[in-house]
Parts: sequence; C-alpha cells; structure tokens
Amino acid sequence: MKTELAELLNRPLRIGNKTVSGRLVSAPMAGITHAAFREMVEGFGPPALFYTEMAGAKALPIENRRTSPVFRWRDAELPRLVCQIFGAEPQMMASAARRVEAEGFWGVDINCGCSAAAIRKQGAGAALLEKPRLAGEIVAAARAAARLPVTVKFRNPPAGSKAGATDLARVFEDAGADALVFHPRTSPDVRTRPPVWEHIAQVKAAVRVPVFGNGNVFTPESCLRMLRLTGCDGVAVGRLAAARPWIFGEWTGVLGPDKELPVKTAKAMAELCVLHFDLRRALLRYRKWSAYFAANFRFGHYLWKQVRSAEDVPDALEKTLRFLAEGAEISAVPNANLFA
Ligand SMILES: Cc1cc2nc3c(=O)[nH]c(=O)nc-3n(C[C@H](O)[C@H](O)[C@H](O)COP(=O)(O)O)c2cc1C
Repeated sequence: MKTELAELLNRPLRIGNKTVSGRLVSAPMAGITHAAFREMVEGFGPPALFYTEMAGAKALPIENRRTSPVFRWRDAELPRLVCQIFGAEPQMMASAARRVEAEGFWGVDINCGCSAAAIRKQGAGAALLEKPRLAGEIVAAARAAARLPVTVKFRNPPAGSKAGATDLARVFEDAGADALVFHPRTSPDVRTRPPVWEHIAQVKAAVRVPVFGNGNVFTPESCLRMLRLTGCDGVAVGRLAAARPWIFGEWTGVLGPDKELPVKTAKAMAELCVLHFDLRRALLRYRKWSAYFAANFRFGHYLWKQVRSAEDVPDALEKTLRFLAEGAEISAVPNANLFA
C-alpha cells in the first residue's frame, strides 16, 4: 500500500503554466500554516505545494513582510508556496494577486470557503459561495492581473443556494482558475459532520482543470481511498498535517520509520516559532498547533491542558517533552475530540 500511495503521490501535475512535482499538498489553515510551521514541515520532506494562512486582500498591496504576522515567508520556500487571499471586491483581489506574483510566490489562491463570521460579514470567504457571479468576477480579475497559477479553494454552498458545487466549479474554471481545492462540507457546517467525498468525484467530473480533494484524510489508507473513490488529481491535507507534519515525507517515501519523530517535531516547532515570531505570538502559535499534535496520543488532552498553561515557548516545550518521555505512543488515527 505504501509504495502504491507513494507512486500515486509522486506523479508530477501540470497546473496552469507550471508543473508541480507531486499530488500531496498542505491545505491553508489560519494560525497553523505560518512560516515557522512550514519550515518545520520541510525538515521532514515538503508537500508538493504549501498554502499560506489566508491574508486579507485589502491590506496586501502595502503589507510589510517583516512586520505582518501572516504575510511572511522565507524566499527559499517561494517555489512551492501559494498565498491564499480573501476579499470580496474584484479589483482589490486583482491588486493583491499582483503583489503575490511580484513577490515570487508559486501561485495565488482565492478563499471561497471560510465561514468565520468576521470574513463572511465582509462578503468574503464562504459568503462568495452564494454569489457565483461575483465569485467568478473575482477569479477573472485575479487571472487577468497576474500570470501565476490561480487556484480556488471552496466548499459546498449552503442548502438552498441557486448554484451547487459543480456549478461553482464550472464558474471558477470559466473565469480562468488553473486548479480547484474542494472541501465537500456544506458551509457553515463545522468539522464534526463528515465531508461527502462523492461530491469531490462530481466536481472532478464537471471540470477539466485539476481538482484537489480535501477533508478527513487521516491515514495513508484514507488518502488512497480518496484518490481512488473520487478520481481527484491530488489531495490537500489540513489537520493531519498539523498533527503529523512528517506525513508528506512518509507517504511519498522519502522518510523512513523513526520513533523520534514526535520529539523532533516538538523541538523544531518550538525553535522555529521563536525564530519567526515575537515571544507572545510564538507562544500563541505553539499553543494552537499543540491541540492537533496532542490529538496523536492517548491522554493527549492532558498534554493539551499542560501546554495551555505554559508561560512561554520553552516552558511549553519542556511540558511536551516530559509528556513524550513518559512513553506516549502515536495512535492509528488522531483523537477527533481534540481535532475538531
Ligand atoms: C485551524 C484551521 C484553520 C483553517 N483556516 C483556513 C483558511 O485560512 N483558509 C481555508 O481555505 N481553509 C481553512 N481551513 C480549512 C482547511 O483548509 C481544510 O479545508 C479543513 O480543515 C478540512 O480538511 P482536513 O480534514 O484535512 O483538516 C482551516 C481549518 C482549520 C482546522
């Protein structure tokens, strides 16, 4: 199974005017897929593409990468880095796409899925699922503004919407999107209800551009199942990448078995959070990530509680290492209670 999965994941894929080396990508997660996290993941073998946390299109054209908590990166990662932007106004999104291209990112992604109230209120993220015409105009404006690949990450629109997921997929393709990342969960569902993978197959069948399936891939077996069941061109992994950042190396066959992976992961995450962020932000990021990391272990809620009460990153790391030294073993599937 391992070799079969690695073979499927290591096939190159043409997206727009570029080619990526493989099919397994890291999905965008606000508060998680920041520069420190991405550098830590790279140490175990990188995904074919990394998505950044979402960045607001309004501020992006004037954003300072040295001071912005979100719009920051290492130049070395640009060849595989997609900047996700959110907004509700085509020309604003076009300006943001232009900046993303000028900085040398691999691609730009349009967020059409975030259900957070603060984003929806602006008419952005998941709100766009109910406005297919505007969503199309936004993709077209980004497309016209830049030559780099434009991808769209979206979800099932709310029940009763005029356009369904396949209609939206066609709108995005017609507007010039080069690839789609589809999470088949109806907005504004929370992550407790399972995604309907059959909808990924329907979206894949509706368009010619590559489609990445996303949602509840928690094991190598489920990754293989998603690829087979839906025919999707690739898989975007979110929460599992936070819990087990080594899966990109492991599933593509570049990383062998190593019992020390959890310890190495925690140490690298702590070190890089401090390197990339001020002390307060470093602790907030280490803490947020810890909920997913803790989900790997029996009694993970105990680890999570410990880290939540940590005073700073060194304290949080010490608590993590102590927990791991007490014989914590990785479970087959992360604990869904910590993983929602
Ligand atoms: C903490 C967190 C933050 C997220 N932030 C974003 C985001 O900024 N943009 C986005 O398109 N999706 C975001 N998502 C959704 C994920 O990209 C993904 O679609 C979702 O977690 C389902 O995939 P998974 O089952 O592999 O985790 C976020 C998810 C989580 C858990």
